[in-house]
Amino acid sequence: MKARRPTRPDPRPERTEALRLADGRELWLRPVHPADAGPIAGAFELLDEDEVRRRYLHPVKALNPEYLDALVRPVPGEAFAVVAAEPLPPGEALVGALARLSRDPDRDSAEFAILVSHFVSGQGLGIALMRRLVEWAEANGIRRIWGDVLDENTAMIALAQVMGFRRDTSPESPNLLRIVLELSPPKKTRRR
Ligand SMILES: CC(C)(COP(=O)(O)OP(=O)(O)OC[C@H]1O[C@@H](n2cnc3c(N)ncnc32)[C@H](O)[C@@H]1OP(=O)(O)O)[C@@H](O)C(=O)NCCC(=O)NCCS
Repeated sequence: MKARRPTRPDPRPERTEALRLADGRELWLRPVHPADAGPIAGAFELLDEDEVRRRYLHPVKALNPEYLDALVRPVPGEAFAVVAAEPLPPGEALVGALARLSRDPDRDSAEFAILVSHFVSGQGLGIALMRRLVEWAEANGIRRIWGDVLDENTAMIALAQVMGFRRDTSPESPNLLRIVLELSPPKKTRRR
């Protein structure tokens, strides 16, 4: 998958990275936008039960409006979400993948969640989305990111291994692994 630098004039939303997948599809990786709510709700209906269960750790039939609203309007500094969507303006673009980070009350750590739909999985999007989460976390002074994943979730466990996450037991359930990535401390600026 190749990242391409946008050319000007550019109608793309801020912080858009254009990606060409191995299957030839072009997608834009960009922060979520409130207008994505409809396409995200629509895309959810196309997911299979197993990918929903791996993401939410239990069956979910539909996204409730409050949850969806919080997802597309992350509170600045507290949460962040990035989508991989069709190269069209938010609201018109189908959303194929989404990852989010929510800062914990201790403020040093943040929980991630990610879902790459089976229509576009296995082409590096998971890694690309997680890298955007790491970038945001580091810029916001977060020291570690973590998530609980089912111990049978080989795809997520493999992705986590590629990115250098460590595996811990989860305090939530024996069927879960807690994967944790320690981030680089903020760079010190030299004082003169
Ligand atoms: C887990 C998930 C995010 C992976 O997304 P993806 O876009 O397919 O992942 P990538 O293509 O970036 O793969 C990254 C690495 O993970 C590993 N990987 C991905 N899918 C895999 C699979 N099915 N089996 C084994 N390894 C896999 C590979 O090592 C891959 O690196 P490689 O391509 O260089 O070999 C996606 O399958 C998903 O959304 N699953 C359902 C929701 C979920 O499980 N969320 C996690 C809990 S919040």
